[in-house]
Formats: sequence, structure tokens, C-alpha cells
Amino acid sequence: MNLAIVTGTSRGIGAAVARELTARGWSVMGCARGPAADGLAGARYHHRELDLSDAAAVEEWFEGEFLAVSRLAEAGRVGLVNNAAVLACSLVRDVDLATAARALSVNVAVPVWLTGLVLRHAPPCPVRVVDLSSGAATSPVAGWATYCASKAALHMAGEVLAAELEQAPGLAGRDLRVVSYAPNVVDTAMQDELRALGAGSFPRREEFVAMKREGLLVQAAGPAREIADLLEREGLPPHSTLRFEP
Ligand SMILES: NC(=O)c1ccc[n+]([C@@H]2O[C@H](COP(=O)([O-])OP(=O)(O)OC[C@H]3O[C@@H](n4cnc5c(N)ncnc54)[C@H](OP(=O)(O)O)[C@@H]3O)[C@@H](O)[C@H]2O)c1
Repeated sequence: MNLAIVTGTSRGIGAAVARELTARGWSVMGCARGPAADGLAGARYHHRELDLSDAAAVEEWFEGEFLAVSRLAEAGRVGLVNNAAVLACSLVRDVDLATAARALSVNVAVPVWLTGLVLRHAPPCPVRVVDLSSGAATSPVAGWATYCASKAALHMAGEVLAAELEQAPGLAGRDLRVVSYAPNVVDTAMQDELRALGAGSFPRREEFVAMKREGLLVQAAGPAREIADLLEREGLPPHSTLRFEP
């Protein structure tokens, strides 16, 4: 059985990835605070309404019922798509501590922890981890301190894991590959949210308004197909950095 865990499947890229994978015959375990997006139903898809900023709820679900429902321990191939993320835009001057802490939890702590959960519970089968990244991981954007920091941190955590696979006793030989994957600028609710911000918290807002107006946004199905391909791919290096190009 090919089993994928995809976070943030109520809409956007995560929903498109889950649709693509179920169409290819994967079993998909999805989660989000809201219900599953349209088109995600049936025997191959299981949805959990879960707030990933709630550490206790995350541990309770994934360390408990999830393991039985997903049959992770029996999988022949495992894909983890760390997709759920929030923007938490504000100038550094105005950062709200609780909002930043929740965002860092959803965008970094949970993806890293979930990768560890897969390592602990998956059998010694091929494991592919795709961490949704962004140009924001390497380029500063005014108003995105929390988001940029979170994407940079997630990227580095993937590189650390690749080093651990070489150096840590007990991990050598695991067929686990990590991809830090930037999906390009995608026409989702996250982009709607950016365009709705005031220039006071997001000085480059007009550029993003213009990109939408000029039809430059990518549809989620494109990166979703490439992410599904990555979960099925052999021959990847321990860590790679890729970007969707339409
Ligand atoms: N769109 C872009 O242009 C773009 C560009 C570069 C990178 N990315 C990255 O691609 C990924 C997906 O982005 P998207 O554009 O599809 O975003 P989106 O449309 O805003 O969807 C985000 C998903 O994450 C879930 N989520 C957010 N907070 C959550 C929480 N606390 N608990 C559980 N689920 C939560 C949302 O579900 P609920 O609200 O129902 O919880 C939703 O399903 C993100 O990692 C993003 O950083 C996007």
C-alpha cells in the first residue's frame, strides 16, 4: 500500500495533492481545521479536522488513532507532504507573540515532528518527504518575518535530516529522501489573503495584485502533479531543492 500524509487538505495546494494522489491509487490521510475540500471522499481518503497549532491535539491524533487508521506500519511506500502553513504577516515592529508562535508551530515544528513520527513508525520502505517551501525561504520580504523565518527553518531542518541519515546510528541505509519544494506563485486562498492586506503590513502588496491581474499565478494542479511524481520517484539525492516551473 502507498500511503501519503498530506497536511492542509481543506483547500489550495494540499487539496490538489490529495486529489492527485487518490487518483493515482494512493491512500491519503489528510487534515486541516476545516472539512476536506470538494472531491476528497471515498475509501482512499481519510480526513481529520485538526488544528496543527494545538500540540496536544496533534500528538493525541497522530500518536493514537492515526496509527491504526492509516496502517502506517504496513505501508509499502510512504509520502509525507508538509503543506499546511500560515502567513502571519506583519512588520517586525508589530509582531504579535502568540500569532508568531502559532505560525512557527504550524509551519516548522509540526512538519519536523511529523517527519520524526514517520521515521519512528514506518517500516523500512521508501519514504519521500516533500516540505512546501517558497522563495521566502531565501529572500527577505517586508512584512513576512515570521513566514520567511519559518520557510528558512523548514528548509534547514530537511538538510539536517539528510545529514542524520548519513551520520546517525540506526538511520543509515533508510531509503528516505527530502525535497524542499517551492510551488511558484499559486492561485490559492493564501494569495487572496496577501492581496487583502494593507500596504502598512505588506509593502509589496501591489506587485501581487498585478501578478493576479496579469494572469501570472499558477493553478494548484501543476505543482500537485509534480509533488505526486516526487513521492513516486527513485534516484533522488538525500535532500533536494526544487521549484515548480510552468
Ligand atoms: N500559494 C502560493 O503562492 C504559495 C507560494 C509558495 C509556497 N506556498 C506554500 O504552499 C503551501 C500551501 O499553500 P496554499 O497556497 O495552498 O495555502 P492555503 O490555500 O492558505 O491553504 C493552507 C492549508 O493549510 C491549512 N492550515 C492552515 N493553518 C492550519 C492549522 N492551524 N491547522 C491545520 N491546518 C491548517 C488550511 O486549512 P484550514 O484553514 O482549514 O485549517 C489549508 O488547508 C504552504 O506551505 C505555503 O507556504 C504557497
